[in-house]
Parts: sequence; C-alpha cells; structure tokens
Amino acid sequence: MKGPFPVDKLKNIDTPFYYYDTDVLKKTLKIVKEETKKYGFVQHYAVKANANKKILELIATEGFGADCVSGNEVKAAVNAGFPASKIVFAGVGKTDAEINLALDLNIFCFNVESLPELEAINELASKKGKTAQVALRINPNVDAHTHAYITTGLSENKFGFGLSQLDTVVGVVATQKNIKLIGIHLHIGSQIEDVKTFVPLCEKVNELQTYFEGKGVKLEHINLGGGLGIDYQEPDKTPIPDFQGYFKVFKENLKLRDGQIAHFELGRSIVGQCGSLITKVTYVKEGETKKFVIVDAGMTDLIRPALYQAYHKVENISSDQKEATYDVVGPICESSDVFVKDYKLNETKRGDLIALRSAGAYGEIMASHYNCREIPKAYLSDKI
Ligand code: LLP
Repeated sequence: MKGPFPVDKLKNIDTPFYYYDTDVLKKTLKIVKEETKKYGFVQHYAVKANANKKILELIATEGFGADCVSGNEVKAAVNAGFPASKIVFAGVGKTDAEINLALDLNIFCFNVESLPELEAINELASKKGKTAQVALRINPNVDAHTHAYITTGLSENKFGFGLSQLDTVVGVVATQKNIKLIGIHLHIGSQIEDVKTFVPLCEKVNELQTYFEGKGVKLEHINLGGGLGIDYQEPDKTPIPDFQGYFKVFKENLKLRDGQIAHFELGRSIVGQCGSLITKVTYVKEGETKKFVIVDAGMTDLIRPALYQAYHKVENISSDQKEATYDVVGPICESSDVFVKDYKLNETKRGDLIALRSAGAYGEIMASHYNCREIPKAYLSDKI
C-alpha cells in the first residue's frame, strides 16, 4: 500500500487503467447529500464528468438527479437508474432525435439555449400531444476566473440567451403552447477554486428574479449549474472539496422566493478526487539535458494536461527511493503528450507503476482512439 493505493493488487492489472476509490466517492456523496438537504437544494450529477456505468449507478443510488448534454447521456443516466423525472437536459445543439428521446422519457426539464431550439421542442412536443417543461439557460456575463476553455458564462461564449435577448424570448415563450416555462438555468464555468466567485452569479440571479416578476413570469426552479473546483495540487490533503462553503454562498446570497427550488449540476467536485489513472513505466530514457519517464498512458487516456495545460499530481507508487527529476511523457506522436515537466518523483525504473491523481472527472470519458489506441479500462476499489 502506498498512499491510498493497494499496489499489490494493482500490479496484476493490465495498464493503463482508471482506478476509482469508492470510499472517497461515497464520502463525497454523503457530504453533498447532507449539505443539499440542509438547505432543500437539489443536486443533479453532471454526467459529462464521468459516465462510467458503475460510478453512475453509485451516484443514482444516493438519490441524485442527472444533468445530461446528449441523448446518449440521457440514455446512460436512465440505464444506470436515474429516474427520468430527475433529469435535466442542456446543450446548444440538441437534435430532433435527442429531443424526441427526452420527450418520450418524460424528463424533468430541457435547459433551452436558443429560440430555434425552443420552437423545435414546442413543435416536437405538440406532435406527441405533450407539454415540455423548459428552463431558459441565461448567459449571465459573469467571469468565472478559470481557464478560457472552461469558461462558459461570458457574452462571447456560445451558451444560453444573452441578457438583452430576454424580452424577445419571454414574448416567444408565451406563444408556444406545448412549452411550460418552469425556471432559469445558469452555469459560469468549471474548476472554480474560490467559492466567492459564485457571489456575482447569485446577485445576477436576484436581478433576474425581479426582471421575470416584472414580466409576470413565475419561476419555480433556479438551476445554478456546477463548477466547484478540486485540489489538484494536494488530493490527499483535500480529497473532498469545500461543499459546505460552496452551498453556504448560495444560501446566503440567493434570494429565493417562497416554494422556489435551487438546483445544482456539480460534476468534477463529485467524481474528480476518487479517480486516478494508473500507468506503467515502459522506459526511463536519458536525454541530452533531462531524463524522461515514458509511461504507457498518453494524452489519449487523459487529455487534460495537453488540452488545458492542466496539472495532475504524479506519483511513483512502486518506489520509495530518493527523488530525482524527470519529465513524465506518454507514447503518442505529439509533443503535447507530456504529463509533467521537471518533476520530482521517487527514483523510477522500467516496470514501476505511476498514478496520475485527481483524474476521476473528465478523464476516462474524454479518452480517444487516436493512434489506434484502446480506451482504458476502469476498476472500482471494492471490486478488485
Ligand atoms: N452544468 C453545465 C451546464 C456545464 O456545462 C458543466 C460543465 C457542468 C454543469 C459541470 O461542471 P463541473 O461541476 O464539472 O465543473 N473538460 C473540462 C471541463 C468542461 C466542463 C464543461 N461543462 C475539464 O476537463 O476541465
């Protein structure tokens, strides 16, 4: 055992693979459940972060809803046991087939992102003699202070309705007979480390409430999206993110009306810390100026470092030797296939096991076949 890893068991499994610590996940879910219950908030797990069937089943068992962004995510959620009545469906490009699927399943709510989408949902619902519940996704133009690729709530981003478009949208909604407007939806971005960043979001929602009341529109549901960050630097120090602080910000700053329900769509903060990518050292290569640890996982297994310059803590879980400095790289034919540079690891040799930490969110699910590679397998700690 080194850190949280049962190395003796892991070394018998073909690498690379994702390893999920169910203890960490269960503890995380327990806290999210307690905190949301405290304030009467509703949590929909953002399936996009990790759609591993066993992980989804564990989360569904705890009674959470699901936030989906494709028809296949809706199917995955339902197959894993999430009731359709707790599914919200977002995304700027829902196809007719996806809308029909969601209508047939009677999902809780469509988070609508444009007028043509609103009209399409109305038309398809009308053909089925149904009424679709919708929330308007509003782009609040609030800066999430995170990586540009995972900022979603600025006017320049493609998501949701702009504030200046709301008059028109409210007018159109009133003409759509097979639509029921039940709320609004906002999401400002992901990996937000300072919970105070959510205060301006709450303030914007408070202004929007006044606006909608002025228009005579009753909002029953306010969906605040996701975005709480995790500690990529020290996963063992902070295995569970600050959910207390996060939900408290909303409790203290949102002016909810009587009977109104606040919904959340956390993804990364729920599954991020329970997962690690386990990989084996294929070679240790002496370069002219540095040493390279070449592992059998690459950017096809975990793309975050290459795509967002993201940091994942790297550990040699087979070695207790003194530290040396290495670049840890994958085998893919791209110079961006580097996990960390000039990094201190316990002295490393061919065959050692390396853990890339905090990889439970946006890891396995973003894997690709590039270079004709296989998608990594995944194992849960209580099943190996
Ligand atoms: N709700 C909406 C509307 C979203 O767009 C997202 C994430 C979430 C909820 C969940 O956000 P979370 O709680 O996980 O931060 N692949 C990137 C992250 C992309 C996030 C996209 N939207 C990464 O690896 O960092």
